[in-house]
Amino acid sequence: MKTRIAAMADLHTTQDSQGIFRSIFVDISRKADILLIAGDLTQDGLLEEAEILSEELSFCKIPVVGVLGNHDFSTNQQEEIKKILYQKMHILDNRPYIFKDIGIVGAKGFGGGFDKHLTEPYGEQILKQFVFEAINEAIKLEEALTKLETEKKIVILHYSPIRQTVVGESLEIYPMLGTNRLVQPIDDFGVTAVFHGHAHHGSPEGKTQKGIPVYNVSFPLLLKIQPQKPYKIIDI
Ligand SMILES: [Fe+2]
Ligand SMILES: [Fe+2]
Repeated sequence: MKTRIAAMADLHTTQDSQGIFRSIFVDISRKADILLIAGDLTQDGLLEEAEILSEELSFCKIPVVGVLGNHDFSTNQQEEIKKILYQKMHILDNRPYIFKDIGIVGAKGFGGGFDKHLTEPYGEQILKQFVFEAINEAIKLEEALTKLETEKKIVILHYSPIRQTVVGESLEIYPMLGTNRLVQPIDDFGVTAVFHGHAHHGSPEGKTQKGIPVYNVSFPLLLKIQPQKPYKIIDI
């Protein structure tokens, strides 16, 4: 039996967002079985913003699963943000979330660039740390995938694992938008589909080298392409 998955990202909730998302959540609740949110839940990582998102999510009547994005780390209160949202959405850690016959895993991910322009861990310590952050995120993802026993596997990331879905952004910022370092576990474990955000001006769809579909579900991007339906729905 197929499950209908809705996905979105980059809500960037501010203290003025009250009422902005509720009709979308009502709409999604009618159309899908589960909603995935791929990070940047808040604009500035403020607890007040998380409170407002929590109120908006009261209008969502289906399970919500997601990851945090870079903005949610802005004030270093990510653990408090998770606590505020705990009742309304499940934020993935290194354990899978099982929904029916689907295993869902996720990580924030990180930058580092793509393909032959991948940033290498060389030179200054701080640059090596930058690269190691992405490697650690890829390891987290791999560990969570190792625990999955379901045939259907969904990955949620904030940063992009492939170049294709950031195309449309300025070339200069590609290394800040994602990295191929995240793609290997996705291909190795034969993931069914990947959702990410962060590239607000990127492209909506791409594929890994092994042909696994990758969807950029950034809210500003989808709002531009399909204003009536700023989320993605797939059946798996
Ligand atoms: Fe964002
Ligand atoms: Fe972001």
